Amino acid sequence: MERSYIMIKPDGVQRGLVGEIISRFEKRGYKLAAMKLKQADEDLLKEHYRDLASKPFFPKLMGYMLSGPVVCMCWEGKDVVAQGRKMLGATNPLESAPGTIRGDFSLDVGRNICHGSDSVDSGKRESELWFSPAEIVDNESALKDWIYE
Ligand code: GTP
Ligand code: MG
Repeated sequence: MERSYIMIKPDGVQRGLVGEIISRFEKRGYKLAAMKLKQADEDLLKEHYRDLASKPFFPKLMGYMLSGPVVCMCWEGKDVVAQGRKMLGATNPLESAPGTIRGDFSLDVGRNICHGSDSVDSGKRESELWFSPAEIVDNESALKDWIYE
C-alpha cells in the first residue's frame, strides 16, 4: 500500500495541533504505520531537504526545523501521497484553501506547520530516512472493509 511521510513541524507541535492533524488523517480513512516525536539534527534535515540546499531560504528553513521537536508519521492508504498534499494545502498558507491544514491554521510560508511527501518515491525515501524498518508496523486495520470496497 502507498505510504506518505507526514511531519508536524516545530510550530505545529508547539501550537498544540498534533491531535488535530492526526485526527484529519484518521478520519479520512488512512492508517498510521509509524509515529514518533523527535528533535531532528542538521544531518538528517540536510538529507531530507537535499533538493532545496541551493535555495536562498534554506538557512532559514534549517533554523525553523531545528527550533524544536517534530512529530514524524508514516501514513498508509489509497492515493495517500497526493491526497495528503491536498489535505495539507499549498506551500504558502496565503494560497492554501480554507479546509486544508495550512489554510485553516497558518499564515506564513516559513511557519506552515506540516510537511507531506511530494511523490510516491519520496514517500518511500522519506519514510525510510526518518524510520528504521522495525519502527514501521505492517498491521491490518480492522476497519479496512468499511473504508475500501
Ligand atoms: P513540504 O511539504 O514542507 O516539503 O512543503 P512543499 O513541498 O509544499 O514545499 P517545498 O518542498 O518546496 O519547501 C519545503 C519547505 O520550505 C516549505 O514547506 C516551507 O516551510 C519552506 N519554504 C519553501 N519556500 C519558502 C520560501 O520562499 N521562504 C521560506 N522562508 N520558506 C520556504
Ligand atoms: Mg516538499
